[in-house]
Amino acid sequence: MDFRSDTVTQPTEAMRIAMANAIVGDDVYGDDPTINALEIWAAERHGFEAAIFTSSGTQANLLGLMSHCGRGEEYLCGQQAHNYKFEGGGAAVLGSIQPQPIQNEPNGTLCFKKLEQAIKPDDIHFAQTKLLSLENTINGKVLPLDYLREAREFTQRHNLQLHLDGARVYNAAVALNVDIKEIACHFDSMTICLSKGLSAPVGSLLLGTKEFITRARRIRKMLGGGMRQAGILAAAGKIALTEQVNRLQTDHDNAKRLATSLSELDGFDINVEHVQTNIVFAKLAPHIDTLAMQSQLKKEGIIISSGNPLRFVLHNDVQASDVDILVERIRRFITAN
Ligand SMILES: Cc1ncc(COP(=O)(O)O)c(C=O)c1O
Repeated sequence: MDFRSDTVTQPTEAMRIAMANAIVGDDVYGDDPTINALEIWAAERHGFEAAIFTSSGTQANLLGLMSHCGRGEEYLCGQQAHNYKFEGGGAAVLGSIQPQPIQNEPNGTLCFKKLEQAIKPDDIHFAQTKLLSLENTINGKVLPLDYLREAREFTQRHNLQLHLDGARVYNAAVALNVDIKEIACHFDSMTICLSKGLSAPVGSLLLGTKEFITRARRIRKMLGGGMRQAGILAAAGKIALTEQVNRLQTDHDNAKRLATSLSELDGFDINVEHVQTNIVFAKLAPHIDTLAMQSQLKKEGIIISSGNPLRFVLHNDVQASDVDILVERIRRFITAN
């Protein structure tokens, strides 16, 4: 049982069969029929003109940022944004793009007033602000649809592009009980990770206009991300998007189950109402030795993260009964220590 992340998910049986039987070609020549079919289908399905398959979510975000912004230009994002904090500074290192982070509000949104103040005037002293990048879900929280509408208006008013790091955008759509297009329609570009809660082994998508995706394709090649018989991966990716979406609700239910049970334990501070999708954060009292707990659980075949707050992620490879076992083992650890 591994509660560290939804990235640990194993491909499903249907994915393994589809991968074994995928018809492939050289995708750098544009010859891989399975990749081509996925890109065309995904663009249509999400309401964009075009799509590109990438090796990872990090690469999809980087291609997005580099296709929107040039050298000496700037993107606005959250302090907690994955594409600011957790991607090795790739936009700055590889794209010469300056990030302008803004503190995220407790619900994950970015305040438009603060964003407005951060937009640089047209002055030779400043980098040129080109893009606002949002993330949905962010730390498991869902950005409200009204907020997305406002973000669209805000970027139009300020002549900015709007990008979504949609690594877990399907979790957001399931939590809101809306079609994915109701989220996607607000953005100029969007990424989707196929290899997180949707269980594909590898790969993400970047979506946008034809012109934008053509730029991204050039950059992907430059970054060494042009893959050859990648249809083997796309075959699993298509199943991720067609067969794995509906079951995300189970992960959300399991997250609530875990949060509710853990919140009853001594020293665990969890706001159960804040658990909206598949991620649970628990603030632990100082007397709980998290490293010792992690190491004890590992001996019992349960892998968790370390840190405080402690993050638990629910996914296809952990069931409700596993959640109950985890809680029981944590209870035992706390009682014994
Ligand atoms: C919100 C978000 N965006 C992007 C990524 C990057 O995805 P990858 O690990 O495939 O590079 C992650 C990874 O966990 C993520 O959580």
